[in-house]
Amino acid sequence: MSTLNEKLNQHRQELQNIPLSELFAQEPERVNQWRFQVGTLYADLSKNHLNAKTKTLWQQWLEQAQVQQGIDALTRGDNVNHSENRPALHHRLRAPTDTDFYVGEENISASIADVRQRMRQISEQIHSGQWRGYSDQPISDVIHIGIGGSELGPRLLCHAFEHQSDGKVRIHFLASPDPIYLEHLTRQLNPATTLLIVASKSFSTEETLVNANYLRDWLRQNGGQQADAQMIAISANVDKAQQFGIAAQRILPFWDWVGGRFSLWSAISLPFVLQNGYPAYQALLDGAHKMDTHFQQTALMDNLPVQLALLDAWYNHYFAVNNRAVITYSHPLNPFPQYLQQLDMESLGKRANRQGKPLDKPSGLIIWGGSGTESQHAFFQLIHQGQRQIPIDFIAIKQAPKGYERAHQLVLGHCLAQSEALMKGRDESYLQDLPEDKRYERTSAGNRPSTTLILDALTPETLGALIALYEHKVSVLGMLYNVNAYDQWGVELGKILAQETQKSLQGDLQAHDPSTTALINHLKR
Ligand code: F6P
Repeated sequence: MSTLNEKLNQHRQELQNIPLSELFAQEPERVNQWRFQVGTLYADLSKNHLNAKTKTLWQQWLEQAQVQQGIDALTRGDNVNHSENRPALHHRLRAPTDTDFYVGEENISASIADVRQRMRQISEQIHSGQWRGYSDQPISDVIHIGIGGSELGPRLLCHAFEHQSDGKVRIHFLASPDPIYLEHLTRQLNPATTLLIVASKSFSTEETLVNANYLRDWLRQNGGQQADAQMIAISANVDKAQQFGIAAQRILPFWDWVGGRFSLWSAISLPFVLQNGYPAYQALLDGAHKMDTHFQQTALMDNLPVQLALLDAWYNHYFAVNNRAVITYSHPLNPFPQYLQQLDMESLGKRANRQGKPLDKPSGLIIWGGSGTESQHAFFQLIHQGQRQIPIDFIAIKQAPKGYERAHQLVLGHCLAQSEALMKGRDESYLQDLPEDKRYERTSAGNRPSTTLILDALTPETLGALIALYEHKVSVLGMLYNVNAYDQWGVELGKILAQETQKSLQGDLQAHDPSTTALINHLKR
């Protein structure tokens, strides 16, 4: 009897011989079979290499990978992050806090409610002008210092809803210690009216601490020691934040059971609250919570995050696909692909399985993307005619902003045209007017898969649902690949070696490989 792996392989071979367009002819109910409506989010998976038999095999795959058990364990708060011996409870950060939920002795519902209340208070004090800087002026600007998960999430949110802000508080993000940008920020901003947020789960990330030191010096040079009151820390390491010199009443905590790349639901998103007000943040949480409910309570074959995860694993393991492009058709969503890169690639780019042994198939895809329609005029040529397999997620917004219906329609039209063109391609029969030797270069093979996701409107609530959708997809991929999606040991080596290279650059030459030694010598010459 053949194994599930053999059956999936066999099925892929059958499907590979059927063009996507042909699948629609074979299955009149295809669109209905592969479309999902979760709250305000519509998803169409039908332009992918799937048919009715795929469903049967996927069901078996889910059973084999014990995905339902995995979802239940995640929801219950079991230690699914086994290498760090902790649960992954980011979903609790967006749940209503009226039901007690314990991690060890701590009722985290109460702790979460408390931090939310403090975020609300801070934003109200800043908005009302009650929070004042060292020269008794209200706060006009915030520099959010943080990197990775401590920056990508709030940056996405602030970018997405900047157009809805009253503009009273401007937010600036500083991730890398880049002298040019540091200089630019300090020249542009008034220290007397600038609040610094130091966001770091560990409070030991070098880039963040270097930036925090530079900017604290800048505040102090202008306002003296009292300017330290213009600093807020957000961290799971409250002791370290205090050692850095930030007073306890200005530290917003979060918890070790929130992974950095899952932390935008925590106080890490304070800049978004300062930019758009607390109700916008609450709406974000509510939208994500609705997606959580769908994920936790819906049968797996009707469960959108589960289906999207299966699709990636299907392409990755059986079609030798190594990447996915995410193309967003809405200016506010421009940073979304970059946000997803950390979420997906830091979670799934692993070499060990959950038993600590080598994986026999690659986990994770290269996630990349950009904004439509700009990308169409940049890299889409390779997607249409290049030889690579590039499944795409197209993300668009249904509702047009008032007064801009024409522009919105144009954008939507392009989004739909891309997925249609990629699937249908174009053969020489359309080009009969041309000489024969001019035809081939104008054809496209087609048969290129894509998924289209449509949000009813762009609101904090719908974006919350979208982000939670991708988070859950990543969790399920962890189960399908049998990897721990919540740790990131791979990034540690670079951090360790950066200590050595810095010593060498400062003159105390350490042992390096010949290439690195030559580079250091070149930089010091
Ligand atoms: O180096 C990777 C990483 O640990 C990410 O997982 C994390 O989001 C980022 O660094 C920043 O870490 P921290 O919030 O502790 O400063």
